[in-house]
Amino acid sequence: MLIRKEEKRDFDEIRNINNICFNGEYESKLADNIRKGDNFILSLVAEDNGKIAGHIMYSRIKIGDIDSVALAPMCVLPEYQKKGIGTDLIKESFKYLIEMNEKNIVVLGHTDFYSRLGFEKAADYGVKCPFTVPDEVFMVIELEKGSLKAGVVEYGEEFSM
Ligand SMILES: CC(C)(COP(=O)(O)OP(=O)(O)OC[C@H]1O[C@@H](n2cnc3c(N)ncnc32)[C@H](O)[C@@H]1OP(=O)(O)O)[C@@H](O)C(=O)NCCC(=O)NCCS
Repeated sequence: MLIRKEEKRDFDEIRNINNICFNGEYESKLADNIRKGDNFILSLVAEDNGKIAGHIMYSRIKIGDIDSVALAPMCVLPEYQKKGIGTDLIKESFKYLIEMNEKNIVVLGHTDFYSRLGFEKAADYGVKCPFTVPDEVFMVIELEKGSLKAGVVEYGEEFSM
C-alpha cells in the first residue's frame, strides 16, 4: 500500500470512494470544496496497485484566535477496512502536518478509532464544537504539546452545504 499526496488524476476516484464509504455525497462535495478554497492543507491517498483504497483530507480552521486543522473527510473502502490502512493514513498525515508546522487537529468521528491514535475528548481541553454533538465524538490531538487553547471551533465555509 502506497500512501502519497493526491494528484489531479485522483480527483474522480476520491469523489467516488467517499460516496461509497459515506453512502451519500456530503463528504465528496466537502473534499471538492476544500480543494477549491483557501483553507486546503493536505490530502493523501492510500493506493493499492493503482486503485485508491483510502483518502484523508485536512483544512484550516480556527479555535477562538488560534489556528488548527480539521481532519475531514476520511475514508477507507469497505473491502479494505480493518487492515490498518486508516491508521497508516493518519500516521503518515501527522508527519506531513508536523513538517508544515501544524500544531493540533480537530476531528468529529468514531471515538474508538481516533482514540487509539492519540485523539482525546476536545471538551477536556475546553475546545467546543459550534453545534451540538455528543462529547465523545468531538476530539483533538496536540502535535505540539501545550498548543491547544480553550475556545469554540470555527469551521471554514466549505463545511456549510
Ligand atoms: C473509520 C475508517 C476510516 C477506519 O479505516 P480502517 O482502515 O478500517 O482502520 P484500521 O484498519 O486502521 O482500524 C484500526 C482500528 O479501528 C477500528 N475501527 C475501524 N473502523 C471503526 C469504526 N467505524 N468504529 C469503531 N472502530 C473502528 C478497527 O476495528 C481497528 O481495530 P482492530 O485492529 O482492533 O480491529 C473506515 O472504517 C471508514 O472509512 N469508515 C466509513 C467512513 C467513515 O466513517 N469515516 C470516518 C469519518 S470520521
